[in-house]
Amino acid sequence: MSSFPDVRLRRFRRTGGLRGLVRETRLSLDQFVMPLFVAPEALPNVDLPGMSRFTVDGVVREVEGLVSAGVRAVILFGIPEDKDEDATGAWDDDGIVQRALRALRPEFPDLVLVTDVCLCEYTSHGHCGIVVDGEVHNDRSLELLARTAVSHVEAGADVVAPSDMMDGRVHAIREALDDHSFESTPILSYAAKYASAFYGPFREAAGSAPSFGDRRGYQMDPANVREALRECELDLDEGADAIIVKPALPYLDVIRAARESFDAPIAAYNVSGEYAMVKAAARGGWLDEKQAALESLTAIKRAGADLVISYWTKDLAAWL
Ligand code: PBG
Repeated sequence: MSSFPDVRLRRFRRTGGLRGLVRETRLSLDQFVMPLFVAPEALPNVDLPGMSRFTVDGVVREVEGLVSAGVRAVILFGIPEDKDEDATGAWDDDGIVQRALRALRPEFPDLVLVTDVCLCEYTSHGHCGIVVDGEVHNDRSLELLARTAVSHVEAGADVVAPSDMMDGRVHAIREALDDHSFESTPILSYAAKYASAFYGPFREAAGSAPSFGDRRGYQMDPANVREALRECELDLDEGADAIIVKPALPYLDVIRAARESFDAPIAAYNVSGEYAMVKAAARGGWLDEKQAALESLTAIKRAGADLVISYWTKDLAAWL
């Protein structure tokens, strides 16, 4: 009784109702985070509509729409007026993300406000840390990252997500938050963040491509998975409450490996290039965007992600 013709797996595939009964993975808007870019001037991005730049007023209007569609969480990225060597715009009380948080917080008390904590959008050279003698200096970057995180929470952030890949940043941020009595604020750490070609459209939208060199001196080598588990373990030891694997689709094995090794919540970042590829193929008439997006997001969850950061979150609100 254990093989064909007694066993026919098609029996439970016959109708939508039957398939629904045995579905193992489901998408729920509760576990999606919409990325948003805030800048001094709006820049509508017609090619990649998920990736427009909003002014502070514009982001409040956009979030109004997202919240009424059912979106529960957003992650904010900032593009400052001026960039400098010390990434002043990142940690300035009056920085663009801080202003957006102060505008959003009172309007949307139930919305989860996550912030990306990094220096690359704010440094004149576009690297994620402070440059000393032509190199990104790990330890000198930590203080500024911690200061950035504290200023985000002071302005109303619920969760901080450090994405710089400096060693020891989670510890530095945890300590600084606790010193400011923010011991209840969780850190969602980009623990396994790879030096990836799939960040291209993001860097376009955020104006954060490095002006010299690349990010391989601090972001991970795409060839490594054991090292990703060490990154996750170290970040959790330093006090990360949840960890991110990024990108998502080319790294489903890393999500799965992290899932099997750790009980902490795992997020996957379905990055700009993954989104752009499907958009471009859909425009060419080669793929159906909605089907390809739903399949991709389901695969990311099936691999083991609890929550997903995705530019499709807004569309997902309409699709589900
Ligand atoms: C900032 C940051 C980047 C992304 C998220 N946070 C860019 C980078 O590391 O170069 C990429 C996200 C995406 O491509 O959607 N460090």
